[in-house]
Amino acid sequence: MSLETLEQETLAQVAAAADEAALEAVRVAALGKKGTISEQMKQLGALAPEERKSFGAALNLLKDKVADALAARKGELADRALNERLVRERVDVTLPVRHELRGTIHPVNQVWEEIVQIFGDLGFSVAEGPHIEDDFHNFDALNMPPEHPARQEHDTFYFNEKPDGSRLVLRTHTSPVQIRTMKTQQPPIRIIAPGRTFRSDSDMTHTPMFNQVEALVIDETTHLGNLKWLLHEFCKAFFEVDDVKMRFRASHFPFTEPSMEVDINCSWKDGQVKIGEGDSWLEILGSGMVHPNVIRAGGLDPDKYQGFAFGMGIDRIAMLKYGIPDLRAFFESDLRWLRHYGFKSLQVPTLAGGLS
Ligand code: PHE
Repeated sequence: MSLETLEQETLAQVAAAADEAALEAVRVAALGKKGTISEQMKQLGALAPEERKSFGAALNLLKDKVADALAARKGELADRALNERLVRERVDVTLPVRHELRGTIHPVNQVWEEIVQIFGDLGFSVAEGPHIEDDFHNFDALNMPPEHPARQEHDTFYFNEKPDGSRLVLRTHTSPVQIRTMKTQQPPIRIIAPGRTFRSDSDMTHTPMFNQVEALVIDETTHLGNLKWLLHEFCKAFFEVDDVKMRFRASHFPFTEPSMEVDINCSWKDGQVKIGEGDSWLEILGSGMVHPNVIRAGGLDPDKYQGFAFGMGIDRIAMLKYGIPDLRAFFESDLRWLRHYGFKSLQVPTLAGGLS
């Protein structure tokens, strides 16, 4: 067979291959060990030197042509297979959600999102800090030097001591974010910092890991009255009621002066906690005017700047809003509980559309 005929036939076979398997068969038949082109190669040795040169060159050319054609056809077939698959696997995103999709949004995530919505609307932005903190940010900078008795109240989880004697901690509150924020932002500052916090403590209303949201407002004029107004507005928006009975109790924190704790009126009946009735109170936050030492530790001048901060328990207010009596259940991952208290995944809270 002449090389021309061989070329024509082989290229025709390549073009006719309908899928990858057929194409592979064509390749083996031409270029495989016993393939038509490989057989021609074997003849070369028997030829006279001159002839061998020209025939060899022609054969190499043919081999390259066939290899190129194979590669091109392979690409075509792959494209075609992909297109067919795309058509076959088309998803109609306008169809309604299938009912058996049972995954739900955890109440903590839902409430977290509600909080961000409310404070976002009031001009706050969200700040973050690490869960593993150093002693300085968790304590020292917050006006709690090493010998300060308040350190004991925090039931801190400590990491092993480092060679230099220092110890990292799991942050016991979100307040270290106050320091990190003042160090990186110039007033006026308006941030909230939602996140995980850790203390070695466990009962109906305490878990070793819990969620807090810190708020920090720093400028030249903000005062305690602004804080009370803000908390009131927040509670009305969050609990979606016209008024919320709140109790402001004088308190003490090393990092605020004056300080107050805030309780919300509620009742515990038949394994349900209800807001706005009964004669029980649930503490939801600690707050106060930021202590001058803290403002200084944040790198700002306390003679010029002032403001307030609070730290609120996210899980606590989730319990109150959604009538969940035992905090520990939040973190047990019981599917029945999650289905009962969870939110539909497309039920995103917005102020306009309703929070819950
Ligand atoms: N960090 C305090 C706590 O966890 C709460 C708090 C925050 C109090 C900010 C005052 C100001 O108990």
